[in-house]
Amino acid sequence: MPSVAPSAEELLAQIRIQGGVPRHVAIIMDGNGRWAQERLMPRPYGHRSGMKAVREVVEGAVESGVSVLSLFAFSQENWQRPRIEIRALMSLLEEYIAREVNELRDRGVQVRVLGELDRLTPAAASAVERVVVETEHNDRLQLNLFISYGGRAELVRAARLLAADVQAGLLNPDQISESEFQAKLYTADCPDPDLLIRTSGEQRISNFLLWQMAYTELFISPVLWPDFGRRELFEAILDYQNRERRFGRVPA
Ligand code: FPP
Repeated sequence: MPSVAPSAEELLAQIRIQGGVPRHVAIIMDGNGRWAQERLMPRPYGHRSGMKAVREVVEGAVESGVSVLSLFAFSQENWQRPRIEIRALMSLLEEYIAREVNELRDRGVQVRVLGELDRLTPAAASAVERVVVETEHNDRLQLNLFISYGGRAELVRAARLLAADVQAGLLNPDQISESEFQAKLYTADCPDPDLLIRTSGEQRISNFLLWQMAYTELFISPVLWPDFGRRELFEAILDYQNRERRFGRVPA
């Protein structure tokens, strides 16, 4: 008899039985362009379809009890894409916020937007401000949207902030520890990601959360981002739940 793949609901039930849900899941949402090209459509069509996947994954994260979800939505390198694609991504961000802000607020999602935000268009910047303010008191799921973000730039920024503290006489160079450094990152008050999911089969970190991912478990999915949903998220979480994390130590 052919075996039937378990449904999303069955996978969710299994996650709950198993326990040990990752506290923080980070995702590199890759493959929108290829998904559109496969359909002979322009790349922005793939990004638009990717927005639906964002919605599903946020829903799945809330249902499975993840506390922090970090999505890499726009990298600093993405500013080098054709102007038409950048414009499409900026207006999708505005559209996503306009459409989802009420539901995000009602579901208890706190949205944070992290990166070099002074490069955003004024309309995108005010949409970002709106969703951050309207959801700031929520605490069911923290949704970090990384926009105009690069891991190396974040590290340089942290070094600058520490140097400014030293110059102001607030800190002695000998006092700079890992925790002082961590305190200057965008993710200062966030646990490090337990699980990184990258879609579309690529096996790279692509300048995402370089400091924070020192001990993160990696899950590479062959699925292109627009086809990723609750079911695929639950499969990744179940895979994570079966791993042994040793953080450089020997097995217990
Ligand atoms: C990578 O695919 C994806 C992006 C650069 C953008 C991600 C944006 C979204 C999922 C939609 C909007 C999201 C929010 C939160 C509003 P790619 O274009 O590099 O794909 P490719 O590798 O197939 O070319």
